[in-house]
Amino acid sequence: MAKRIVIMGAPGAGKGSQVSIIKEKYDIDAIVTGDLLRRHVSDKTDIGRAAAAYMNEGKLVPDDIIIDMIREEMKGKDSFILDGFPRTVVQAEALDRMLEEMQLPLTVAILLSVDDEIIVKRLTSRFVCSGCGKIFSSLREPVKEGDKCSDCGASIIRRKDDNEETIKERLRVYREQTFPVVEYYRRKGILKEVDGTGTPQEVFERIDSLLGE
Ligand code: AP5
Ligand code: MG
Repeated sequence: MAKRIVIMGAPGAGKGSQVSIIKEKYDIDAIVTGDLLRRHVSDKTDIGRAAAAYMNEGKLVPDDIIIDMIREEMKGKDSFILDGFPRTVVQAEALDRMLEEMQLPLTVAILLSVDDEIIVKRLTSRFVCSGCGKIFSSLREPVKEGDKCSDCGASIIRRKDDNEETIKERLRVYREQTFPVVEYYRRKGILKEVDGTGTPQEVFERIDSLLGE
């Protein structure tokens, strides 16, 4: 059955890690705004040039840039999981309008809840593949910058925004600008909260049980 899912949560809550499991299991497209933006930055496109400074400072990229990018990505898709969008109420309203035009309502908005203390630990231990985006954690496995990705062989790097100062700013921005989106979906009656602690597999089982409902 077609599913249209939004996955939300603070930086480091585990959105990307869960999305990589969910998209395989449910065979749906993942639209990951952070990954799309990082690709634009490394390809030095107009969007990348406009977005880089905001991203490096932990601020949100302006709504109009994001909304245009998402509209392109969603064309022709009736089943998807959105990670990193919407992040402001303006974006959530724009998404509703896009979905109304397509006559396809959202199935569910999942909120992954994790305490700030755990988040800072996770993000300061995160490594990512510069090629395929695979996510690693030095809390789970011996991994360091310059290692080769086990999936695609590209170099493993740290994200520029994974330093303590920028993480604090991302958490502040999340509370101020993105938490109202959580309330927006709660009021619509489609919000499901999931405990984001435990192993990635344990978290996935919680999500899986509510997606299968
Ligand atoms: P984005 O890339 O979306 O960053 P984020 O929201 O800060 O989220 P992260 O990707 O850091 O965390 P995650 O929840 O995906 O965690 P992960 O699974 O990797 O956005 C980056 C920037 O782009 C923004 O700051 C903004 O500038 C811009 N942007 C993006 N979208 C935008 C929008 N819509 N509007 C405006 N601007 C936008 O996990 C983290 C670590 O924890 C990993 O090491 C992982 O292995 C580990 N981990 C995960 N789950 C577990 C677990 N269960 N137990 C133990 N470790 C775990
Ligand atoms: Mg992510």
